[in-house]
Amino acid sequence: MAPLRYLSGFGSEFASEDPRCPGSLPKGQNTPQKCPYGLYAEQLSGSAFTAPRTHNRRTWLYRILPSAVHTPFSPMEQPYLTHNWKSSDPNPNQMRWHPFSIPHINKEKVDWVQGLHTICGAGDPCARHGISVYAYMCNTSMVDTCMYTADGDFLIVPEKGTLHITTEFGKMDVFNNEICVIQQGMRFSVEVDGESRGYVLEVFDGHFELPCLGPIGANGLANPRDFLTPVAWYEDRRVPHGGYTVISKYQGKLFQAHQDQSPFNVVAWHGNYVPYKYNLENFVVVNSVSFDHMDPSIFTVLTCQSVKPGVAIADFVIFPPRWSVQTNTFRPPYYHRNCMSEFMGLIKGSYEAKEEGFRPGGATLHSMMTPHGPDAVCFEGASNAELKPQRIAEGTMAFMFESSLSMALTEWGQKTCECVDAEYYKCWLPLKSHFNPDWKPE
Ligand SMILES: [Fe+2]
Repeated sequence: MAPLRYLSGFGSEFASEDPRCPGSLPKGQNTPQKCPYGLYAEQLSGSAFTAPRTHNRRTWLYRILPSAVHTPFSPMEQPYLTHNWKSSDPNPNQMRWHPFSIPHINKEKVDWVQGLHTICGAGDPCARHGISVYAYMCNTSMVDTCMYTADGDFLIVPEKGTLHITTEFGKMDVFNNEICVIQQGMRFSVEVDGESRGYVLEVFDGHFELPCLGPIGANGLANPRDFLTPVAWYEDRRVPHGGYTVISKYQGKLFQAHQDQSPFNVVAWHGNYVPYKYNLENFVVVNSVSFDHMDPSIFTVLTCQSVKPGVAIADFVIFPPRWSVQTNTFRPPYYHRNCMSEFMGLIKGSYEAKEEGFRPGGATLHSMMTPHGPDAVCFEGASNAELKPQRIAEGTMAFMFESSLSMALTEWGQKTCECVDAEYYKCWLPLKSHFNPDWKPE
């Protein structure tokens, strides 16, 4: 199959028509009395109508039938998707999970929505404040089913398997080492090629944006041109007798409605509220070229800001392959206690601060003020290493969801999931004192 086409840019005003229907975008206005090709006009708002222009997000969709044509929503069972943070007691421990188990297709068919498991989170979608972190483990495609979240924006990080995602805006293929963002309200359906696994961050407060670069200047980190948005694609497909299911994630629970047509019936659209993907290989790494460490904020790809200046509801941060050149410096991450919560996952390779135990498809959580840092093996090695320029993290991509909110673990995250690594704390126990009261400078 030919690779998909995309539009390039971040936060841009895009316009796209399915080439089968040239002229399907109304000229010079949004809601003509009759739209070209007999389409319906529908606006999808991603911000308050009156939001300042810098934050105003909306898209006009020109579709075969409006989204309103469906039966009433009814509750749907999905026991692993929850925002019930009170279901288990608070737990400040360092947490680590072995790679999350993917169900075997011969035992059980699980699609992307059924495979969503909430690990931890904070806040409340009703108040539009908070986040939720999920793992997904699935083995089969969603068939005649789509979902949307009314609660927030999904940032999806595949670790195993490509995601073929159809959205109302068109199609995206999201490969290993790529991420995608599907914002509040956007309907999408996920096809997979086989066993698939990855991570999802949902933010309830607002949308992801590129971090300000300050003195770095106009270029660097994630550049806007590397974000890719689908081009318009439609199907005029009837699925009689309510054969198509629309799943709504609403106030932390799933609901389903049925309709007789595919929701991917948008022939043309224009606007700045869109799904997008990004290849992490395109991230321009910035770091100290003299001595010491910059803080990991230099690795921020996307941020969802709170109302407090510089404080993120959640940052999406990566640790890409790069040169490490600092002189007289302990080069791995320093020991720290953070006023933020840090959830980490591994897309491929092995993470430099812990060569063992933290594996692709697994995860760690270091909660607020919970101390952590390199394990004993890493500390001894890095303290005695020859400090020549060195490629680090080659073939590796670790990431972090860092939040100013104090996240709580779900019952599944800390108990039911068989992948919890109860031995994690032991990686620091061999650290020994090097203190020498008679030490003299050389
Ligand atoms: Fe950390």
